[in-house]
Amino acid sequence: MVGENNFYLSGVPEDVKNLPESLESKQLKWSKTDVTNFEKVIPTFDKSRVCLLDPAASEELSPEDSENFDFFLFGGILGDHPPRDRTGELRKHGFPGRHLGKIQMTTDTAVRVTQKVLADQQRIEDIDFIDFPELKFSKNESTEMPFRYVRDSQTGEPIMPEGMFDLIKEDSNKSLDDLIL
Ligand SMILES: C[S@@+](CC[C@H](N)C(=O)[O-])C[C@H]1O[C@@H](n2cnc3c(N)ncnc32)[C@H](O)[C@@H]1O
Repeated sequence: MVGENNFYLSGVPEDVKNLPESLESKQLKWSKTDVTNFEKVIPTFDKSRVCLLDPAASEELSPEDSENFDFFLFGGILGDHPPRDRTGELRKHGFPGRHLGKIQMTTDTAVRVTQKVLADQQRIEDIDFIDFPELKFSKNESTEMPFRYVRDSQTGEPIMPEGMFDLIKEDSNKSLDDLIL
């Protein structure tokens, strides 16, 4: 979505030797260094020009912010429902923050929306979202996702990473089995 040269993974756990093949082959830049010390990895990493995408920030991300920041920081954490404000772990290090609306998005959706605002200069209120979509697996089975997604203008469906629908389906089958056993 953002191009492999524009993407960094920070704080990769110490015991990780290699990234999964699908990421390794893209030659992504990654480091075990915590993002709070990232100037050791990228000398131009100036905290005052790093924007933390934070649902609890007081200011909304706007197209003008493309001038204000060089890096955009996303918490690589799973979304609890209800959210437990784990983005606060990054907020306390003093990165300036922006929100994308108050509803929690999946991390890939947050990246997608940030790119629409900055690269396509779209305002958040002009983006077509789907909140808490119901994913139907069969005539009788469905699950509600407690997040906000961008709507695919062609299909009308929420945009999700490849394979995500099948993973969620698999997961929902597992929990059903657990209930029966
Ligand atoms: C799936 S969210 C997890 C949020 C986590 N459960 C919490 O309570 O902080 C992962 C990341 O996506 C970004 N994000 C998700 N929704 C957002 C929103 N509405 N505004 C700004 N950033 C958002 C944040 O960087 C967040 O750390």
